Amino acid sequence: MRSLRGVALLALLAGISVAVAQDDDLKAGTASGLPLFPYASCTKQLPRNIFSVDATVTNPSANTYCFTIRADRAQCTTGDVCCTNPTVNKFELDAKPVCDVFAQKVSATINGRPTPVGPAMYKPPAAADSQRTLRITQLNLTAAQAADAVICIKLCVAWVRTNGPVNKAACDLLASSISAAVTAQGESDLALPFTCSAMNSTTVTVCGDFKTESAARKIGSYMSSGGLGALAVPIGFDNIIVPQDGVMVCKKSLLTYWLTDMSGQVCDSASFATDCRPPQDAFPYCTCEPGVARRTPYTVSYTRKFVSSAGNNGYCFKIGVNQTQCGTSRCCGMDLQKIEWLTNKDNCFYAVDGWTVSTQPNIYKSAVWSRETDMVMQRGVETKVGVFKTNELNLVPANAAGVEVCITLKAKSKCPTLDTFCYGGVCKFAVFSKATNCCAKDYAPGVFGEYNRRR
Ligand SMILES: *[C@@H]1O[C@H](CO)[C@@H](O)[C@H](O)[C@H]1NC(C)=O
Ligand SMILES: *[C@@H]1O[C@H](CO)[C@@H](O)[C@H](O)[C@H]1NC(C)=O
Ligand SMILES: *[C@@H]1O[C@H](CO)[C@@H](O)[C@H](O)[C@H]1NC(C)=O
Repeated sequence: MRSLRGVALLALLAGISVAVAQDDDLKAGTASGLPLFPYASCTKQLPRNIFSVDATVTNPSANTYCFTIRADRAQCTTGDVCCTNPTVNKFELDAKPVCDVFAQKVSATINGRPTPVGPAMYKPPAAADSQRTLRITQLNLTAAQAADAVICIKLCVAWVRTNGPVNKAACDLLASSISAAVTAQGESDLALPFTCSAMNSTTVTVCGDFKTESAARKIGSYMSSGGLGALAVPIGFDNIIVPQDGVMVCKKSLLTYWLTDMSGQVCDSASFATDCRPPQDAFPYCTCEPGVARRTPYTVSYTRKFVSSAGNNGYCFKIGVNQTQCGTSRCCGMDLQKIEWLTNKDNCFYAVDGWTVSTQPNIYKSAVWSRETDMVMQRGVETKVGVFKTNELNLVPANAAGVEVCITLKAKSKCPTLDTFCYGGVCKFAVFSKATNCCAKDYAPGVFGEYNRRR
């Protein structure tokens, strides 16, 4: 960190100019014949000092660099005055003169708080014209303060949960699971234990404070290198696939951890998510406009199951009419002539014993099928699919509300239940008009028996 950009934020954990990096300066200075940083006479050797600055400068965010100060009495082996009366008064950085411009802006914090006096570019009297230091004065850090210097100690984990309730129980489960993971990593000594700290409709957040930055950093790097994934197990982390406008979409859950200093500045963070590929298909295998059921007046919901006198399984769907939902859509007045049903690939031909529509009582209709080729289900690979049709319904918005369509599946077929009959276990239908060339698809909502459209 010799040169600072014209505009930089220097987040100073705690620091002093010490002899750590001065061998290089010595050589460079000797070769060039220029005065040596820090351009003043002072004690430079580590054994004459209890302080040192970590060789690693961290860069927690853009334009922010953190220096970590160490205070170690054992380092002082000479009995020098700097060993017995140690304070850190000033921190200096050897800076490039090109940074000494009017617009240059640097700020510094110690442990997340601004330093009493901001950093300033300075040409020390003993330095050459081309030499500058960036100095921060009046630090007044005692050995105890410096040794206790901590910056990033607060660790939070947020869980965006889609596959279950987002409530206090989920938040508490996350908190106890983090505590167990942290203990298993050998860092159970916390300043503040992990507790549920925030909740809203999508996310629970758990935070805890470590006593030292090194412990927090250790758990932080554990979290980013597999720890979050391990945490996913006890909390039951998963995504959920839901129907939306006739297609299956993945609602992803997300785990994120972040480490902050006392001012709330983020020092470190990482996220964990899992892959999610919802099943897709090309149903209803035709140009289908307006495409989505909410742009037609019709809804189709699963309502009930019955067992026929022959011992077969009957499943009923109720048609609803809502002309508010389709507004100005061309198909808002469409008639309803046919409902097609996407079945479980080509396994279910012959599975339908017959079907009924409540407007034509006492007529047990026989099954009508078409065979289609789907190129989407297996991503480019041909899949043969059976489409079942309940046709000649002769309905219009004025008489369709409450009409029931019931499909009877043969108990002794390959697809005896809706779970096995509908592709993916969730019944996807398409409504068709006779007169207006309208078509739209959706998944039928409803929960009954083994059928449960996940929403
Ligand atoms: C330096 O810190 C000590 C102890 O915290 C305090 O008593 C003293 O007033 C401080 N001096 C300055 C100049 O801030
Ligand atoms: C819920 O909280 C999270 C984390 O604080 C935030 O990112 C998200 O925007 C919040 N969502 C809502 C709906 O308020
Ligand atoms: C009809 O659709 C509108 C718009 O989507 C919705 O707000 C309303 O609740 C629906 N009415 C019924 C009875 O479902």
